[in-house]
Amino acid sequence: MLFTLFIVVQCISLVHGSFCILPRSPEQMRVAMRGPNAVTISWRTGGNFGKNDTPEPRVEYSTSKTFTDKVTVNGATDNYDKSSFFHNVALLDLLPSTTYYYRILAAPTCVRESGIHSFTTAPLAGNPSAVSITLVGDLGNDNLLNLGGSSRTMKGLRQVADKTDFFVHIGDISYADDYGLGVPFEFYEQSWNSWQKHMTEVTANQFYMTGPGNHEVTCAILGDFLCLNSNYKNFSAYLHRFRMPGDESGGYKNLWYSFDYGLVHYVIINTETDFPDAPSGPGTLLNGGNFKGLTGQLDWLKADLEAANGNRAQVPWIIVSGHRPFFGSLPKLPALPGNCDSCRTAFDPLLQQYNVDFYVSGHVHWYERLYPIDANGNPIAYNYDNQPGPIHIINGAGGAPEGKASVKTPISASAKIVSAFGFARLELKDASNARLSFVDSKTMQEVDSVDIIRHH
Ligand SMILES: *[C@@H]1O[C@H](CO)[C@@H](O)[C@H](O)[C@H]1NC(C)=O
Repeated sequence: MLFTLFIVVQCISLVHGSFCILPRSPEQMRVAMRGPNAVTISWRTGGNFGKNDTPEPRVEYSTSKTFTDKVTVNGATDNYDKSSFFHNVALLDLLPSTTYYYRILAAPTCVRESGIHSFTTAPLAGNPSAVSITLVGDLGNDNLLNLGGSSRTMKGLRQVADKTDFFVHIGDISYADDYGLGVPFEFYEQSWNSWQKHMTEVTANQFYMTGPGNHEVTCAILGDFLCLNSNYKNFSAYLHRFRMPGDESGGYKNLWYSFDYGLVHYVIINTETDFPDAPSGPGTLLNGGNFKGLTGQLDWLKADLEAANGNRAQVPWIIVSGHRPFFGSLPKLPALPGNCDSCRTAFDPLLQQYNVDFYVSGHVHWYERLYPIDANGNPIAYNYDNQPGPIHIINGAGGAPEGKASVKTPISASAKIVSAFGFARLELKDASNARLSFVDSKTMQEVDSVDIIRHH
């Protein structure tokens, strides 16, 4: 029986013109913005007995579904162990606000061609059309503590994909480092792979922009010393699995970067490492970074925000996302997620100086919306009618295998807490009007929504 199957598989492979035992498909396809007019297509293959099975990664793309006028581009491959090969292809000089179709081409060593996917490029910076962003944080695989919560959020993300211009995942992706809490019988690489496979329908067709969280630092959340494979330390998996526009924006790879999308300038910061007293920096329990010294990230952020603030007539909204919240109702308890004081000291003065509109974080496993606050976290108003300073949103409710957070007494600046799994949506309707909402992924109902006015 097995032998017959083997022969059948061999014959099928031979029909495709190459001899191989198990033909494979490109996996975990994803698209991300890559500076103005450019997009990165990325995917994974499992290799051929430890060797790269796609030495010449190639993508074919076209504005037509039938691939008339197609363009073929080559890319590059990297890896951090022998079980996975990560391929990235840059599509450059694309037209703004245009739908492109793409497919990954077959490799002679037994890798099939992919199906056809599509994405729509960003409008030019300053284009006045409304922008709709879906924000998720702290979304892992299902386990016994979140009871299917993450699958429900993934399903919810698929349902809103059509009305989303781009997604932002604010750190804590897959929770592959949660040994014992993760998917039973799966380990670090397998957990990452299964998470990315589950997300492919979203990530292959929509820009999926990511930032680093504490679960991206090393392969064991209880401490780097428990991560027995040195290939999996120091953000290694994260750095290879998501290609973000750090180079294009003067930032650093996928750890801190920015991009423009029509009315919005979006900035991703790294609240784990690369600033003074960073919670996951060198010598800490998770022991990551620094990649650019103690001030590289902060110098870049200052320059980036200064330029963005100077460009507000064209691009009015500035949003910053980092994994850890600066203010919020969950007090900092040892070993539990809470506010990050050293992050606040490092980043918040810059966010205030350049009048950033929103700081959207994750880390605490709920959704919390704060009223406008001053630099000490005290409320300055109980409405969002053109108040100054960043509006703080905590959105770590995606579906953490560690469960949900709750608190008895919220702080006075807390406007709303939702202890349910789900995701937030931010719609920038025009230069002055925004709408923020949170969707409970169990019911797919909006359980919070608020209109925000900012005259820039
Ligand atoms: C992490 O990698 C960076 C870049 O290679 C390196 O400079 C840094 O020392 C590493 N950090 C640790 C804790 O090994």
